[in-house]
Amino acid sequence: MLAIKNISKTFNTGTVNEKKALDNLSLTLNDGDFVTVIGGNGAGKSTLLNMIAGVFPIDCGHIYLDDKDVSLLPEHKRATFIGRVFQDPLMGTAADMAIYENLALAARRGKSRTLAWGASVKENAEYKDKLAGLGLGLEDRLTSKVGLLSGGQRQALTLLMATLKKPDLLLLDEHTAALDPLTAKKVLDLTEKLVNEHNLTTLMITHNMKDAIRIGNRLIMMYNGKIIFDVEGEEKKKLSVELLHEKFRQAAGEEFSDDRSVLI
Ligand SMILES: Nc1ncnc2c1ncn2[C@@H]1O[C@H](COP(=O)(O)OP(=O)(O)O)[C@@H](O)[C@H]1O
Ligand SMILES: [Mg+2]
Repeated sequence: MLAIKNISKTFNTGTVNEKKALDNLSLTLNDGDFVTVIGGNGAGKSTLLNMIAGVFPIDCGHIYLDDKDVSLLPEHKRATFIGRVFQDPLMGTAADMAIYENLALAARRGKSRTLAWGASVKENAEYKDKLAGLGLGLEDRLTSKVGLLSGGQRQALTLLMATLKKPDLLLLDEHTAALDPLTAKKVLDLTEKLVNEHNLTTLMITHNMKDAIRIGNRLIMMYNGKIIFDVEGEEKKKLSVELLHEKFRQAAGEEFSDDRSVLI
C-alpha cells in the first residue's frame, strides 16, 4: 500500500535555523493498517504526513503508493487518492459554501472539471444518509453554510469528505486536539467507525497515548525524525502508557522532562 524508503527532509538548509525534520526514515504499511503515530513536539510527525501528501519536496528517498512512485507527484494530484484531516477545523472545509456543496466537491475530487458540479437530488439523498450516520443532526442542514458549524461538526464533516471517495490512504494530524474532550471522543469514535467500515489504510498522529494504544492495529513512536518504536497486533494491545514513557525516555534521555507534558 504505502512504502516509504529512506526519506530525509531538512528545513532551512545552510542557515542557523537548519533542522533535520526527517532522518533517513523508512516505513511500509500493509493494506488496511490503522497506525497511530506518537512522539514529542518537533519529532517530525507532521513533516512525515506532509511529505506523504506532497506538501514539500523530499530531499532524498522515495514514496510508493500502490507500487507507484509518487515522490515527484504534486500535492493536488496526490489529493485524488489521499484523504487528510488537520488539527485546525477551519482547514478541511470551505466556510462560505453549504454542507452539500462541500460534499459535492469532495465527491468530484480528481474528476474532470467539465462534469456538472451542482449536487443532484439523488446525491443529496445520499449525503443526507451519510450525515445522519454522524449523529450530529447535520442531515437537516444540507444548505447551511459550513462556517456556521462548530469545530467538532466541521471535523466530522471533513472526515466524511475525506472518506467519501474511498482514499488509498487517510492521514490524520491531531485532528481532535483542538476540540473539547467530549467532542474529541465523538470525532474519534466516528474516525474508528469510518476507517473500519471502509477498511482504510490510515496514519493518525495523536498526543494522547491512551488513544494511541487503544485505537488501530499498529503504533509507531517518532523521535528526532526517526521511528524509534514500531509495534503491532497482540504486542500493541499489551502496551501501557508507562511502557511508552519508558521507551521515550530511553530515546530522548534528558530532554524527556521537557516533552513529558505533551505526552499524556
Ligand atoms: N515548514 C517548515 N519550515 C521550517 N521548519 C519546519 C517546517 N515544518 C516543520 N519544521 C521543523 O521540523 C521539525 C519537525 O516538525 P514537525 O514535523 O511539525 O513535528 P511534530 O509534528 O512531530 O511536532 C521541527 O523542528 C519544526 O520546527
Ligand atoms: Mg505536528
